[in-house]
Amino acid sequence: MSEDRTVRTLIENDIAWVIINNPPVNATSTAVREGLETAIADVAGARVAILICEGRTFIAGGDMSEFDTLPVAPHLPDVVQMIEDSEVPFIAAMHGNVLGGGFEIAMGCAWRIAASGTRFGLPEVNVGVIPGAGGTQRLPRLIGIEPAIDIACAGKIINSEELYRLGGLDQVVEGDLKQAALAFAQTLPLRPTPVSQRIVEPIDEAALTRKKAEVLRRAKGQHAPLDNFDALTWAARPFSEAQPKERELHLALRKSPESRALRHAFFAERQVAKPAAIAGATAREVEHIAVVGGGLMGAGIAASALNAGLKVTLIERDKTAANAAHDRVTNLLDGALKRGKLGVDQHRRQLNAFRTSDAYSDAAPAQVAVEAVFEDASVKQAVFSELAASMDRNAILATNTSYLDPTVIFAGIENHSRCIGLHFFSPAHIMKLLEIVKTPETHPDVLATGFALGKRMRKVSVLSGICDGFIGNRMLAAYRREADYLLADGALPYQVDAAMRAFGMPMGPYEMQDLTGLQIAWANRKRQAADRDPKERYVPIGDQLCEMDRLGQRSGRGWYLYDGDSRKPLRDPEVEQMIADYSAKQGIDRRDFTKIEILLRLLAVLANEGAQIVEDGIAEGFSEIDMVQIHGYGFPRWRGGPMHYAREIGWRTTSETMKTVAGESPNSWRLANMNNEEPKKLKTAAV
Ligand code: NAI
Repeated sequence: MSEDRTVRTLIENDIAWVIINNPPVNATSTAVREGLETAIADVAGARVAILICEGRTFIAGGDMSEFDTLPVAPHLPDVVQMIEDSEVPFIAAMHGNVLGGGFEIAMGCAWRIAASGTRFGLPEVNVGVIPGAGGTQRLPRLIGIEPAIDIACAGKIINSEELYRLGGLDQVVEGDLKQAALAFAQTLPLRPTPVSQRIVEPIDEAALTRKKAEVLRRAKGQHAPLDNFDALTWAARPFSEAQPKERELHLALRKSPESRALRHAFFAERQVAKPAAIAGATAREVEHIAVVGGGLMGAGIAASALNAGLKVTLIERDKTAANAAHDRVTNLLDGALKRGKLGVDQHRRQLNAFRTSDAYSDAAPAQVAVEAVFEDASVKQAVFSELAASMDRNAILATNTSYLDPTVIFAGIENHSRCIGLHFFSPAHIMKLLEIVKTPETHPDVLATGFALGKRMRKVSVLSGICDGFIGNRMLAAYRREADYLLADGALPYQVDAAMRAFGMPMGPYEMQDLTGLQIAWANRKRQAADRDPKERYVPIGDQLCEMDRLGQRSGRGWYLYDGDSRKPLRDPEVEQMIADYSAKQGIDRRDFTKIEILLRLLAVLANEGAQIVEDGIAEGFSEIDMVQIHGYGFPRWRGGPMHYAREIGWRTTSETMKTVAGESPNSWRLANMNNEEPKKLKTAAV
């Protein structure tokens, strides 16, 4: 049998080896399912069969590129059943990731052994579906309903050791997997009852109700976690009755808007990591970075870089500021240690890799410097001239500015091809989004280095050109502007916030402003005032709040009132009166807006701004827009992002809503071409 077959069978003495080779992750594509069907026939006559995979992992999932097409025989549930029913019993010998369809196949085998550290899970919930090949029916029978709920409803991944403890593995292998599989096959225990024929250990109703409430709370409006929960409870019925129900629901959910959105997000994440602008470019080696400014952002950036295994030198204005920055970073590392996110050794290694200083000369050995000092162009320019004088002439110079034009910040630097924007989001050690800002002269290798750094820091990096606020804050400004128009025309802050929360946002625009503080956006609006078209509609209520020192949660009041240390926003009659007075002064006849009107308008504005950003060449495509919104601004992943959502509800609807919005506030909106549908790209990846 040829070596390059996707699934091949070798029989040595009385032991059959069924070997899968379907790079990169041995996904259960049609070729694998067909190959397994053949292999089940080929192993006849052997005493036992060992199912094992080549490459870096066991079967790590299904092939999502097959989700949008009609399922092709042999179907996975049938293949798993054939393995379970095979006269020759199967041992699954696993390493790497055993996820989705891979885990389902493993549960069809008579025995399961796995290398230490192998990861197991049913992540179908992350793409809005339930397992479709017996996963929700066999897992509770194998390890009990409670751990199965955590795995299927929350997409929790467990390792070999934990699966062994739960009774789902027969052996954790420390040494060579093949040798261990062979030894296991040679001293075979009695064949156990097939997993599908076992009885689920009953748990009491109250515990199940508590679990369901927990799943519901975590789902935050998403459906698939509950669908998984329901399917798991069917395992109390005979397998032959419940499994077809699971399959039916799996196939139906593949077509759900939630699943389409989650799959879009999955592919978009991979797509934005490889923008056209870095095609053919080579990332440079980076081992050491300098961070200048150790305030809120600089400390988070330093912690994130240390976490990525980089050496970090943090430079501050003077010794006192350097000490304060040192404390800020070590507090973050200590916190991670306390919460179990860092091991003791890792924590020690990170502390050893970290230095603070008040001398720019200490930045000299670093390959990259990230500046996070005050948002003031002249302060930043001074920092870069110091860095340019101290560092290698090719060292990469990066600014974390939120709004300033990087070409102005870098004006005094000689070699602009090494300059870049690395815009982190707050808190920088937690937020996933990183906007990588390209200046007209940034060298593709420098950009590629930014992307490599982002990947190392586990960020979702998105390429952005230069405009006011880059991609994310430019969209945020449009979103807030329309929210303010809604207030002026009749809505109240709590109504706008409630509409956006009902859609799945963690917070509405006003609660968000109160949380982050009103002053940054205020300073920004003041800066933009000179360039603002005087004919543009401008609602000054936010400015008035700032002038009244109502700066948000930290000052105890903003758009809402806060009772003592409570973070719960309370409606404030004073603010609502200010809004009503403003409308009256403008001669506006206030009217009611329904939740859906508020939602559609704010989403239309986001999609319109996103489309313009692409038209303007700031972002390469709609995926960039969606990733910025999901990873930086809390847009629900299961809604796919504003561009995906606009596509789902139809560009026409979005464009009509936008025309209404623009008609009500003339001179305030530029309409993007909403027919800007991107061609669908064919993509292949595993769940
Ligand atoms: P911050 O005020 O907390 O920290 C600034 C730090 O820079 C201070 O510790 C200060 O001592 C230090 N510094 C000032 N001048 C310096 C100099 N010449 N040399 C060395 N250190 C100096 O400010 P924050 O919030 O950390 O912001 C920093 C930058 O990050 C700004 O450009 C801001 O626009 C940007 N940014 C802020 C975000 C936020 O949410 N706060 C989000 C994304 C970017």
